[in-house]
Amino acid sequence: MTHAHITSWAVAIILFVIAATILNKAGKEKSQKIVKMVLRLFYLFILVTGFLLLFSGVTIDGEYIGKAILGVLTIGFMEMILARSSKGKSNGLFWILFIVVLGLTIGLGMKLPLGIWHF
Ligand code: HEM
Repeated sequence: MTHAHITSWAVAIILFVIAATILNKAGKEKSQKIVKMVLRLFYLFILVTGFLLLFSGVTIDGEYIGKAILGVLTIGFMEMILARSSKGKSNGLFWILFIVVLGLTIGLGMKLPLGIWHF
């Protein structure tokens, strides 16, 4: 399940960056729409695999709850950046917040004991 979780968010981040940067700048609305639809499917994969890990028998403590909240926040910032960029609004602050939250999510995920990258 960890591999499915990692694959899901890795693909989602790549799709997100493509939709929010290249496709947005090029004004390719139709392609962006399709990439966004696929991206939303991957949000679902992230959530399903994340919750399956969460309910796989670990003791759910504050760190696990924090991991889940950070994961959901990461997805939230991706959606926010996409929504704002398609309206042509500036996103500098949201990119910074996204990168910080993403870093914390990955860091905490790797610290927790189930993963293949557990320190
Ligand atoms: C974009 C969002 C997300 C990212 C980047 C992310 C990242 C990660 C990473 C790096 C790991 C560790 C994998 C490893 O060490 O091999 C992990 C594990 C995990 N993630 Fe996520 N995650 C995200 C969303 C979520 C969500 C929404 C949940 C909701 C419940 C969740 C729950 C978990 C759980 C329970 C684990 C296992 C922790 C453990 O090792 O015991 N994640 N995640």
